[in-house]
Amino acid sequence: MALEFAKQGCNLALSARRIEKLQSLQDEILAIRPEVQIFIRTLDVTDHEEVFAVFRAFQKDFNHLGQEVDRVIVNAGMGKGAPFGKGYAKQNIQTAQTNFCGAISQMEAAMEIFREQNNGHLVAISSMSAFRGYPWAMTVYAATKAGLKSLAEGVRIDMLTKPIKVSTIFPGYIESEMTMAIEKRPPFMISLEKGSKLLVKAINREKANAYVPFWPWYFYRIIMPFMSLRMLRKLAS
Ligand SMILES: NC(=O)c1ccc[n+]([C@@H]2O[C@H](COP(=O)([O-])OP(=O)(O)OC[C@H]3O[C@@H](n4cnc5c(N)ncnc54)[C@H](OP(=O)(O)O)[C@@H]3O)[C@@H](O)[C@H]2O)c1
Repeated sequence: MALEFAKQGCNLALSARRIEKLQSLQDEILAIRPEVQIFIRTLDVTDHEEVFAVFRAFQKDFNHLGQEVDRVIVNAGMGKGAPFGKGYAKQNIQTAQTNFCGAISQMEAAMEIFREQNNGHLVAISSMSAFRGYPWAMTVYAATKAGLKSLAEGVRIDMLTKPIKVSTIFPGYIESEMTMAIEKRPPFMISLEKGSKLLVKAINREKANAYVPFWPWYFYRIIMPFMSLRMLRKLAS
């Protein structure tokens, strides 16, 4: 997504725990788009205070360029979960802290900036798993994505009378470090390149909700509430 946004001329603020990954991404982007400004900072989104400090530092970076922070994408996520009661409570809690509590910290920090600016676009990267409960390793992951969907909708209602937009993106399966770790290739998986292009296109539309790719996931969204537990089990296996 960072590369796709850079191709459109966007300046970028990128953060994650592994600074070396950010540095190589920065080099890759600058080789193609040397005119784009890219700020990178290490951040663990489970560190609430640090999220605020890093977001404020990025805001200063943009202000020095004479710009505002016009969009924040709450993207950090992990899926380290396991079935309940099998001794992996720590991993399940870590997934919840990253995907849900980390998202709350990021949304708080982003909204402080957007309220000051009276402008901005908050984007929450949820998942198609947000719409029903999921078994096995995805139980906590799906719950965090349902929680994120609800958080984003709540903030969207808050912002109805303000020029601040809130979008929730529901990706299906897209090749990434996370999905490559899944033993069996999930259905309807699309390439990282195609997925990134479609995500960026969906984000730029600034709609309340977007399903990526639209087909087959929008259709799934419609039928999911009617699926039996057995059908959901099959879907997840
Ligand atoms: N790929 C899919 O099919 C798919 C489908 C639905 C939803 N999603 C969602 O899309 C988002 C991106 O996932 P992805 O598929 O691109 O997975 P990924 O390749 O594993 O990327 C996850 C990103 O989150 C960062 N991250 C993880 N924990 C973090 C933490 N505590 N603090 C800061 N950064 C952290 C990682 O960087 P570091 O490890 O360096 O911190 C990495 O950049 C996630 O929210 C995921 O749930 C993905």
